[in-house]
Amino acid sequence: MGIITENYLLFLAIIAVLGGVAFTKNGASLPEVLNFGRTKKLTSEEIARINKNRKFGEWTPDPNFKTPIPPSYANWDIEKTKPVPYRAFKHRYVVTMGIRSMDWDEWIQLDNEWLRYHELKKARVQEKGEALYATNPKARAAMWEFVDELKIYLSHRYPTLFTYYAEKDVMKIIPTGEVFHLSDRISQDPAYIAAMWLQDDIAIMVEDENGQYILMAGAIMLAGFWRLKDKYMMPLSQIHTSGDVPKYNLNLKSGMEKFFVRMGLDKPVVRNNYFIQTDENLPWSTSIGDEDTEQVGWYTAPAASDINRIYFRSERQSLRRLPKSGAIAFTIRTYFLPVTEMVKEPFIPRRLFDAISSWEPDVQEYRGLATFKDILLPYLEQKAKEQEDAGITVENEPQVFPF
Ligand code: HEM
Repeated sequence: MGIITENYLLFLAIIAVLGGVAFTKNGASLPEVLNFGRTKKLTSEEIARINKNRKFGEWTPDPNFKTPIPPSYANWDIEKTKPVPYRAFKHRYVVTMGIRSMDWDEWIQLDNEWLRYHELKKARVQEKGEALYATNPKARAAMWEFVDELKIYLSHRYPTLFTYYAEKDVMKIIPTGEVFHLSDRISQDPAYIAAMWLQDDIAIMVEDENGQYILMAGAIMLAGFWRLKDKYMMPLSQIHTSGDVPKYNLNLKSGMEKFFVRMGLDKPVVRNNYFIQTDENLPWSTSIGDEDTEQVGWYTAPAASDINRIYFRSERQSLRRLPKSGAIAFTIRTYFLPVTEMVKEPFIPRRLFDAISSWEPDVQEYRGLATFKDILLPYLEQKAKEQEDAGITVENEPQVFPF
């Protein structure tokens, strides 16, 4: 082969390799390479590499990525399937990200509280309307993508609760008969639709040109201590610092920001947390102030006096990246039960007592310890001793978080 031909082939090879990624008008890259006039589909690995080196705010969709379709939840029953009893507290509290990888089959967990949560959300929307959900135009495609992901996932995972009719793009909630026409993408807010299907609250985080993740769409209906308007359009860091999350700048900020920027499509995670609440209202904790007043917080809360009104509030949060938009979908499922019920479970009173006793002063303040310590701690101590007298001691406690 002559030198000229060799060089010419080398030149073509370089063009084929570097020649690259096609760009749309607005600069977003397309997942294909030009290959001698024909197009060649990029693999997920190639797209992941492009995304790893992306300019912030630009995302190359991965059409190859399909969220694994879950098997149907065996014997799931809208009346009988109990909530997962997350008791996500250790003897010692340490502020960490606390994320664990998530099994796709467990993305959305629904149970026999679904109907109650659904009714509560509908009643809340009747009362508060669009204060509870919003979708910024820049996040509309992402929120619809979330709904599209849900319609497939939910109809496979919970086939006695949802049917999805692909020909018409219609989702039906079987027990209530509600029907959602998803082909109308203009007149409805996808955040509302997603909220009606899940027990969870929802936040869609969109990356901006500085690599910050902004809460651009969401449905926050049962969050207890915060409202959508408190955090809407804020970046992740401000969401947390505006709430004085303890040790945020020290222990969380940098790790979380890196985690968000790098998060891959196939690496969903979950985390759990817990709070103590001094009233029985799931959607909004009235103890910290009226939902409609501007300034709310533990500093306005009266001291709790009735142990029967002390509730354990715990969230299971999931995080995943959406393949088309690149946005991160954050779900927040709240579990809520009276402490007087929970202490009947083995090991709980001692562990909760130890956990709360280990809170450092900033955590105590953030979690409102002063308002309930005098009533809750002696109660837990007494219940712990009763269990220990019956042989239920720390030595034989299982060590599997989140318990
Ligand atoms: C890896 C992801 C995240 C981590 C590790 C994290 C961590 C935390 C921590 C430690 C707290 C204090 C309460 C608790 O223990 O949970 C908190 C509170 C909070 N987080 Fe996050 N978070 C994450 C993602 C998000 C996202 C995506 C949002 C978007 C809405 C969000 C919104 C909030 C809000 C609203 C609070 C309450 C703040 C307040 O008290 O005003 N978090 N987060």
